[in-house]
Amino acid sequence: MEQTRTLSPRTAVIWAVLRAELDRRAGERLSVLDVGGGTGGFAVPLAEAGHRVTVVDASPDALAALTRRAAEAGVADRVRATQGDADALTGLVEPASVDLVLCHSVLEVVDEPEPVIAALAGALRPGGAASVLVAARAAAVLGRAINGQLAAAAALAADPHGTAGGRDTLHRRYDADGAGALLTAAGLAVEEIHGVRVLADLLPAAVADGQPAALLDLECALAAKLPYRDLAAQLHLFARRPA
Ligand SMILES: C[S@@+](CC[C@H](N)C(=O)[O-])C[C@H]1O[C@@H](n2cnc3c(N)ncnc32)[C@H](O)[C@@H]1O
Repeated sequence: MEQTRTLSPRTAVIWAVLRAELDRRAGERLSVLDVGGGTGGFAVPLAEAGHRVTVVDASPDALAALTRRAAEAGVADRVRATQGDADALTGLVEPASVDLVLCHSVLEVVDEPEPVIAALAGALRPGGAASVLVAARAAAVLGRAINGQLAAAAALAADPHGTAGGRDTLHRRYDADGAGALLTAAGLAVEEIHGVRVLADLLPAAVADGQPAALLDLECALAAKLPYRDLAAQLHLFARRPA
């Protein structure tokens, strides 16, 4: 599965968390739902590992790319591409039918995150797990300030949703407490929170490209440690629907 691919600072920590869950359920063919799964960066490797994956995404183009990618990987029979809206999952996926839900880089672009989380929690079987990746606020403030965009950094720091105004492509960004509270309110028990890309976006390209293995090791070492976790570009939350 992911071991056969080049892990990057964008994916290594997430795969480490997912691998632990897959190992815990070794021998089972899991039902996986990837909400806003796009072109299948996670869905296809999970299908290659033997699991059945449904990707629900609003974009027909993304789903077409997913379908091609799944066919090229020889797993078209285990990947279902469904066009639909993340907050209308109840009409697309049977309630309490899924073992693992992924929702990566979606909550910051939808109109309302609460119904999306409620819907994906409802899709989970009791004991099923959710992997949720969100944009983090602190890194966005620091990133703009480091790039000399001090007004945008100040606006983003002051905005209750963590956006930088009209040109910002995201509707919101999170800190760990806020993201955790969102999942908890939907009845999920948060088990782990990691930072994704603690350093990768801050380093000069020559360092990141020149020492990729050392960077990956350091990202993995810092991902769960405070204060580094909370300075990461993204936060990964792993939560479970109580059995
Ligand atoms: C930033 S991409 C993330 C893709 C993938 N999850 C990943 O991490 O690589 C966001 C995806 O969410 C999809 N999306 C945005 N709003 C959505 C909605 N309301 N319902 C379903 N999918 C949505 C987009 O089409 C896009 O594929």
